[in-house]
This record gives sequence, C-alpha cells and structure tokens, in this order.
Amino acid sequence: MFDKNLIEETKQIHRQQFGKDPDVVAYAPGRIEVLGNHTDYNEGTVLSAAINMGHCFCISKSDKPGIRLMAIDVDAVAEFDLDTPGKVEGYGWANYSKGVMTYLREKGIDVGHVDCSFLGTIPMGAGLSSSAALEVATAYAVLALTGREMDRKEIAKVCQRAEHEYAGVMCGLLDQFSSIYGVEHGLIHSDFRTLEVSNVSLPDGVVFLMVNSKVKHSLVDSEYNERRERCEQAAREFAALLDHPVTALRDVSWDEFVAHRDEIDPAAAKRACHVVGEIMRVEKSMELLSDDGLAEFGQFLFDSHDTSRYEFENSCEELDVIVDAAKEAGALGARLSGGGFGGSVVVLIRNEQVDAMKAAIRSAYKRRCNIDPDIAVVIPSAGACVVSSE
Ligand code: GLA
Repeated sequence: MFDKNLIEETKQIHRQQFGKDPDVVAYAPGRIEVLGNHTDYNEGTVLSAAINMGHCFCISKSDKPGIRLMAIDVDAVAEFDLDTPGKVEGYGWANYSKGVMTYLREKGIDVGHVDCSFLGTIPMGAGLSSSAALEVATAYAVLALTGREMDRKEIAKVCQRAEHEYAGVMCGLLDQFSSIYGVEHGLIHSDFRTLEVSNVSLPDGVVFLMVNSKVKHSLVDSEYNERRERCEQAAREFAALLDHPVTALRDVSWDEFVAHRDEIDPAAAKRACHVVGEIMRVEKSMELLSDDGLAEFGQFLFDSHDTSRYEFENSCEELDVIVDAAKEAGALGARLSGGGFGGSVVVLIRNEQVDAMKAAIRSAYKRRCNIDPDIAVVIPSAGACVVSSE
C-alpha cells in the first residue's frame, strides 16, 4: 500500500524538472524491526514489517549523457556517471542510487543515460531504513526500465553491497528484505542463514506504535561496524570451545552461551549475550503470536531492549526514556528498532491504548529530554513494487 499523493507529487516534479513523464515509477517502503536486533549479520532470524512510509523513484531515458538524480525534498540534482568510480561528492544521498546502479551494471544490467527523481515519507535518521528503501526503489526502477528480471534475494544483495561500499555500513540484509518482502497487515520472519522468508499475522486487537526519538548519535556507523566485528570475534571464540561447527553466532545456543560465556573475551561475551538471546526470543515468539501468548511476546520486546541497553550497549538515554515510559503506561512491550544509538522505538499495545499511550510517551519524553517525539501507528504494508512502467 503506497501513498497515491506521494506518487503523483513525485511524477509531477519529475515532469517539471526533466520536461518529460517518467518511463517507470517504483516504490519501496521503510521498515520496523519487531524482534531480532543485530541478528541478521550473525545469520540469525528477525521479525520485521514493511511500513506505510516509503520512497517513490521516477526514472526516464535521456538523450543527454550521464545520470541526473534529483532529491526532491532538498531540491537538489546530483550528476554522475557509472564510468567514474567512487562516491558522488557533496550529495551523500546520491550514493545509494549510484551504488545500486553500479552493481546492477556489474551484473550486465546497464541503466544507460537517465533522469531520475525521488521523494519519500520516511524521516531520515529515524532508524526506519530510509536508505534501504531508496536503494530498493532504485533497483526496481532500473530493472523495469531495462526490462530485466532479478531474483528478489539478489536484488537485496545488490542493495546491501551499495550500503557496504558506498555508505561504509557493514549491515546485514534485514532492511532490504523487509522493504522487498513486506505484506499488508503481516509481519515478516526472515532467516538470514537460509534466506527463507515467511509471513506471520499479528493477533487482532493489537498495533505497533513507532516513536521517533529524533536523535541520532554520531559515530553510529562506526559503532555498528565495531559491534559486528565483536560478534564475529565471539563466534570465532565459541568455535574453538564447542564441539560442533560454529560459523556464526547463530550456531551458539543459549545454554552453550551461558555455560561458556566466562571463557571468552568479556566485551565479546556481552555482545553475544544480546544476539544469542535475540535469536532464541525470535524463535520462541513464533508460538506466542496468538491471543494467549501476547503478554509473553511483549515481555520479549522489553527483554530485548534490556540486553540492548546493558549488554550490546546500542541504546541511549532517549530510547531508554521512551521504553520506560511505555512500560509504565502499560504497553505490552517496547524496544529500540534497528541499529540503535538513536532512531525509533516500537511499542506493542492494544488498540484501545493508542491515545493514552501516545500522550504518556509524549509527556515523559518532553519532560525528560525536552524533545517532542513523532509517534504514529504502524500499518504493516506490502513490499516494493513497480507502480507504472511505459
Ligand atoms: C540496521 C542494519 C540491519 C540490522 C539492524 C539491526 O538496520 O542495516 O542490517 O543489522 O540495524 O538489527
């Protein structure tokens, strides 16, 4: 489900800027991470949902050489070509699209000379995967323009590579998978070892709120990469201790972690505590997503936030204030969503709690952090699509 006004506005501005209608219009949503924090690059599992906010990407063939890309929200046009390696200087956002176009070309899919524009409703830096949505929308648009097809998992990998090489974030595949595999009113269960995806419904009568803390602490990217290295270190140390193969933290059970945590590097053990616990919680939660299991499922969200806070150390005061306020106001569960160090919190509540919960979080956050948060009900939405193709 995409916002028709967003599509119309993007098309109209594209026409004004480049003097012609787009040949292809594509759309890709952002995501919330429901449970399974920093598990994707540890080959674990995650529950997530595509959300009702995303990026629209328009593209049309051009007679002029090169690629022009307009970011409508900042009213700027970046110009680049794929023969010039490296980043587009001065236009950070252009690199997500350049990266995707570059790696599609490596696979024999050459976008050629084009004019492009994009506009989105996902706030930047809110931990809702605005950059992945831009990458995925770019990929869908280029594939439709060139008349080529690509397996959805391969599309996700091309986009992930753009993030690695052009943004320097060694992310897993969660954001791209969520943007691609979203379903209306459903959650996505992704297994990042087998790359299998399935859908799960939320029981009736509950919703997620997303609360944008509006803070993004510096060094997020380097902290992210450091956490990943620590997790890989922990996996290597467990491999030397356990009598079965360990290629990633996915292979370490909770019981094994508890039995051996004191035998590995203490900092790596703290990171592994969060990840191994998260993978266990995601798997257990699959049986809890029914009316009877909601309280326990919600508690997993609180547990997840606790180990983010004390073991993985990817929370921050602002996120803690929001989670604590939600808990105090009677939420079923709440936790940071995504990479951490700022960004958004997801809160699981019953439908009838929406207004009171919004008010309670707003007032606590304003009082403690002097920030007005953005709070919205999440509508789990369909994944990326080509909206129109001439
Ligand atoms: C970011 C990354 C994802 C994932 C989450 C944490 O969103 O891009 O790959 O690692 O953080 O779960």
